[in-house]
Amino acid sequence: MPRLHVNIDHVATLRQARQGNLPDPVFAAGLAELAGANGITVHLREDRRHIRERDVRILKETVKTLLNLEISATPEMVKFALEIQPDQVCFVPERREELTTEGGLCVADYADILQSAIPSLKNAGIEVSLFVDPMPEPIEEAARLDADIVELHTGAYANATGKAKETELQRLTTAANYAQEFNLRVNAGHGLDFDNVLPVAQIRHIEELNIGYAIICRSIYIGLDQAVREMQDRILAAAPEDF
Ligand code: PXP
Repeated sequence: MPRLHVNIDHVATLRQARQGNLPDPVFAAGLAELAGANGITVHLREDRRHIRERDVRILKETVKTLLNLEISATPEMVKFALEIQPDQVCFVPERREELTTEGGLCVADYADILQSAIPSLKNAGIEVSLFVDPMPEPIEEAARLDADIVELHTGAYANATGKAKETELQRLTTAANYAQEFNLRVNAGHGLDFDNVLPVAQIRHIEELNIGYAIICRSIYIGLDQAVREMQDRILAAAPEDF
């Protein structure tokens, strides 16, 4: 059964709407952990539209579970990650005009910087993950570059309907098996919600799910504690009977 990492970016999105102090994503991270989150994920975007350096610095001191920092593959971000030393770094593609991360990282395009960044981060004791589409090429590249983990992009699965959803789920399953053959650990995330999480949580080899938007949205109605607990319950439903 995969562990739940709660992405708290959208708590910071709300704060930035007024550019003040509230709501504080650091406070939200503590609440999510108390509700049973197994890790906290934040994406420090180049445009700082939600999470800011201050948040990551404090989270490094306060998160008790595991801190996963998503960054683009740039020297500035790698330097920041090395300074902060989160437990995990996940490299994601980034385009300024996008509303959210749109596709997986085209790993080959970033091979130059990743070739030096991955060993530096690993030598500092940080696990390195690459956010990839569920396809063979980026998985092969991730293995070649000696990443620890691939996070499979579940966005296409989340957006698909009808028969296409089954096809996307199969792609995720095949990709998880393929990554395992290279001894890569497998995470997944993007667009997962209370309805679509179960089949993904049932995929063998997937160890961690990064889920943000759906949990933060529901927390507006029922509170963050309850929203995290409900998501954990949905994931728990994926466990085999004798679990
Ligand atoms: N994983 C990665 C790499 C992401 O970039 C995001 C979005 O920031 C997520 C997971 C979480 O996606 P969502 O907010 O749709 O749950």
